[in-house]
Amino acid sequence: MKLWIPFAVSAGTLLTIASFVGAGWDAPPVETTQTGFRGTGMYIHRDVEKQEALKVANVVPPAPWQADPSGDKARDLYENVQVLGDLSDDQFNQFMASITEWVAPEAGCNYCHNPENLASDELYQKVVARRMIQMTQAINVDWKAHVGATGATCYTCHRGQGIPTNYWYEDKEPKPAGNMTQNRQGQNVVAKFGGGSSLPQNVLKDYLLDTKPIRVHSTTALPTGTNTATTKETEATWSLMMHMSESLGVNCTTCHNSRAFNDWDQSPPQRVTAWHGIRMVRDINANYVQGLTPVFPDHRKGPEGDVFKVGCATCHAGVQKPLYGVSMLQDYVDALAKKGPTAVPDYTTYQPGTTQKMAPAEQSSAILPKPATAQTAEAVLPTAPATSDN
Ligand code: HEC
Ligand code: HEC
Ligand code: HEC
Ligand code: HEC
Repeated sequence: MKLWIPFAVSAGTLLTIASFVGAGWDAPPVETTQTGFRGTGMYIHRDVEKQEALKVANVVPPAPWQADPSGDKARDLYENVQVLGDLSDDQFNQFMASITEWVAPEAGCNYCHNPENLASDELYQKVVARRMIQMTQAINVDWKAHVGATGATCYTCHRGQGIPTNYWYEDKEPKPAGNMTQNRQGQNVVAKFGGGSSLPQNVLKDYLLDTKPIRVHSTTALPTGTNTATTKETEATWSLMMHMSESLGVNCTTCHNSRAFNDWDQSPPQRVTAWHGIRMVRDINANYVQGLTPVFPDHRKGPEGDVFKVGCATCHAGVQKPLYGVSMLQDYVDALAKKGPTAVPDYTTYQPGTTQKMAPAEQSSAILPKPATAQTAEAVLPTAPATSDN
């Protein structure tokens, strides 16, 4: 007699009951928005419970006061103002009050300043902050194709903390214990920067710092030899796509029609915005954040010694438009929506606690080279590439 049948039936029944009543087994209430033609699977699903928490976390703080743009300029009033010299005294003070709220609400001015000498650059946080001002100006001026009129302020990333909640670094852990242990090729662990998948865990360096092409799709059913991308590149691309989806709290169909992931003509417009976003993040990381490596103390770096870098989640923090697309720029037009001087000091000479003025050498601004990996806003738009083979 087949004794296993009654056992299998009772186990199956119990599992079915458990799936309906068991803790953690119930599906969250989901809100679904249709974004394309019916029958094409173009839907965005959102967990309603998470949306409530996100709404609370994404409220824009008001400016401390409306600044008066008239009066003497900061460069004439203070000793060591290198980037914000064009602001009026009131605008300058309003901006200092705001960045204190955005970056260091508890520590206050002393997070960046020696209170005995506000002009001194001896605290590394001030040197970093000055470069971050230049970076934020570049985001708002050069990368309108991504940030639009909404733009970004320090608050978009920092949200009241010295280090933003979401960043990435090179993650080689866990390393193989010895020669006999298998090389897992950087995958098959929980990839914290790959949307918690088991896909390759270190791809953001290739795609969001370096400029590795994001092209894996073949356009023919059978191989013709033109597409050289392998399964390895496909997995790496997928890991990046998981990072992007998780960062924005969306699924793949927000940017793709899944019947043809490669085809720009069938993709929603968000994909083009994302394309510019990828180039913007490369620019931020290669030209601003990475250059600050000699300034940051070791405890502000990842286990491989690289600085914490910007990913999509650094600004987006789980929502499709950071802070739901509410702009803060109107109160900081002169500080953050225009470019001040763009020259960069030689950060390798920085001595924390000692350096009084970290300034670019006098005539150096014209000759400073951009790193080779730099991508600029002039990069051409992806108008329906003829083929997406490599
Ligand atoms: C997040 C870092 C940061 C915080 C917090 C901060 N500052 Fe600053 N502060 C800077 C930077 C960077 C400069 C230089 C700006 C430039 O070079 O354009 C500066 C310059 C100044 C100067 C000009 C000093 C001189 O003579 O050159 C004054 C005054 C000043 N800050 C006051 C304040 C006050 C008051 C607070 C607190 C309300 C404050 N700052 C908080 C980063 C900060
Ligand atoms: C696009 C995101 C982004 C924006 C915008 C941004 N920051 Fe940052 N900032 C970062 C990241 C990421 C780090 C961490 C780098 C690290 O620790 O290696 C950082 C670090 C810093 C630090 C060093 C903190 C510490 O304790 O080590 C200061 C100070 C700072 N930012 C100030 C600012 C100011 C002021 C602005 C606005 C003018 C600003 N940032 C805008 C992403 C951003
Ligand atoms: C926020 C928008 C966005 C989301 C969400 C997104 N993608 Fe992408 N995807 C892009 C962009 C932009 C490119 C092209 C990047 C480039 O060319 O630099 C791309 C490229 C790709 C490619 C390569 C296409 C080719 O031509 O070879 C694949 C495959 C892909 N995505 C799959 C996915 C999958 C699977 C998901 C969900 C896990 C996803 N994407 C989520 C924006 C997105
Ligand atoms: C400096 C902050 C910042 C970073 C970093 C950033 N974004 Fe954005 N992103 C924005 C802002 C601001 C908007 C809203 C623009 C607007 O209102 O027009 C936006 C809008 C978008 C949109 C359009 C949403 C819609 O529904 O129209 C997509 C898609 C997007 N970002 C994808 C990305 C991806 C992918 C990355 C990482 C490669 C990224 N972003 C990194 C600031 C950022």
